[in-house]
Amino acid sequence: MSEKKKIRIGLIGTGLMGRIHTNGYKRLGDFFPEYEYRPVLQAACSRREDKIREFAEQWGYASYETDWRKIIERDDIDAVDICTPNNTHAEIAIAAAKAGKMILCEKPLSRTLEEAEEMVKVVEEAGVKNTVWYNYRRVPAVTLAKQIVDSGKLGKIFHYRANFLQDWTINPELPQGGDALWRLDAAAAGSGVTGDLLAHCIDTAMWLNGGIKDVSAMTETFIKERVHQGSGEKQKVEIDDACAFHCHFDNGSLGLFEATRYARGHKALYTFEINGEHASIRWDLHDLNRLEYFDHNDEPEVRGWRSVHVTEGDQPYMDRWWIPGTSIGYEHSFIHQVADFFKSLEGNEPCHPTFRDAYETQKVCEAVLDSAKSRSWKDTGVDWQE
Ligand SMILES: NC(=O)c1ccc[n+]([C@@H]2O[C@H](COP(=O)([O-])OP(=O)(O)OC[C@H]3O[C@@H](n4cnc5c(N)ncnc54)[C@H](O)[C@@H]3O)[C@@H](O)[C@H]2O)c1
Repeated sequence: MSEKKKIRIGLIGTGLMGRIHTNGYKRLGDFFPEYEYRPVLQAACSRREDKIREFAEQWGYASYETDWRKIIERDDIDAVDICTPNNTHAEIAIAAAKAGKMILCEKPLSRTLEEAEEMVKVVEEAGVKNTVWYNYRRVPAVTLAKQIVDSGKLGKIFHYRANFLQDWTINPELPQGGDALWRLDAAAAGSGVTGDLLAHCIDTAMWLNGGIKDVSAMTETFIKERVHQGSGEKQKVEIDDACAFHCHFDNGSLGLFEATRYARGHKALYTFEINGEHASIRWDLHDLNRLEYFDHNDEPEVRGWRSVHVTEGDQPYMDRWWIPGTSIGYEHSFIHQVADFFKSLEGNEPCHPTFRDAYETQKVCEAVLDSAKSRSWKDTGVDWQE
C-alpha cells in the first residue's frame, strides 16, 4: 500500500448505499491492483453513536463521527461520499466543495433543479473532482450496450423504452417519513418514483441515446394519506407513486418510460429496449449479465434474438472477474464505479456522470413532474454533452 497514493474517504450515511460503496472501496485493491490510487476508510458518519461505532468496527473505518460537518472540517479526509437521503445532498455537497474535498454523491443529485444548479456551480467553481452514483452504466451488459450503440450497429434509432417497477408501497398502512421510509416523504425525497427510479432510467437513456428534448407525463398518488412517522399524524402523501412519460430525444427517436411502486410481483424490474434501423438491444436487471441483441443483417435462416451472456474477458470489466460463464452481481456495478473514479484521478479526467451530467438528468425529472402537474408537454432544456 505504501507506494500507492491514498485517498482518505469520509462516508456520510451508512444504510444500503453506505454499505455497498464501502464494499466497493474494499474490493478496489484486490481486483484493480495496478491502479495508482487507493481508498482508505478514514471515517464513517451517521447520527446515532451506538450504530456508527458498530458500523465503523464491522466495516473497518478508522474513526467515526455523528455530525457530517465534522467530516467536512477534518483535514485528514480527501473525498466525501454522500449516501444520505436526498434532502441532505445539496447542503453536504456544497460544504464539501467549499472545503476542497472530492465528492462522490448518491443519486438523484438533489430534490429540485434549483438545488442541483447551485451544486454544479459551487463544485465547478471549487474545481473538485466529482461523480454521481448512477451505477447501472457500469453493469457490464449495459456498458456493452453503450459500445454497440456507439459502433453504429443499430443504425438510426427509432425507439427507447424503459421500465422500473417495484411493489413495496401497496399496503395503505405503511407509514411515511422517518429513517426507514424517507422515500415516501416529499420533504426528504423531493419526489417519489421520478427521482428514485426514473432518474436511473433517464441517466442510462441519455448516456445511450443522447439528450431528451421534451416530455409529456402523468403521475398518480394511489394512497392519498399515510401516518407520518415523525408527527404520528395522518398526512397527505405528496410523492408520485407512479409515473409514466413519453418524450422526444434530440436524435429524433421516441421514448417511453414507466416507473411505479405498485406493480405487484415486481421488486426491482429495471428493463430497457432500444430499437434501431438495423438492430435492437434489450436488458433486464433481474438477469443483469445478459444482453439481448437482434441483428437484421444476420443470415435469414438463423436470424433471431441472441442472448449474450456478458461474462467473457473481452467484454466490459469482465477481465477483472472469475472465468467466462460465471456471473457477477449488482454490487459489482458499484465496484466498477469506484474503479472508474480512481482511474479518472490518474489522468485527471472527469468521472461521468459528473454533477453536470446529473444536473441534465434533474432537468428531465423536473420537466416530467411539471408536465404531469400542468397536463401539458414541457421542454426539458437539456444540453447533453457527454
Ligand atoms: N445508486 C443506486 O442504485 C441507489 C440505490 C439506493 C439508494 N440510492 C440513493 O442513496 C441515498 C441513500 O439511500 P439508502 O437507500 O442508502 O438510504 P438508507 O435509508 O438505507 O440510509 C441512509 C443513511 O443516511 C443516514 N442519515 C440520514 N440523515 C443523516 C444526516 N443528517 N447525517 C448523517 N447521516 C444521516 C441514516 O442514518 C442512514 O445511515 C439516497 O439519495 C438514495 O436515493 C441510490
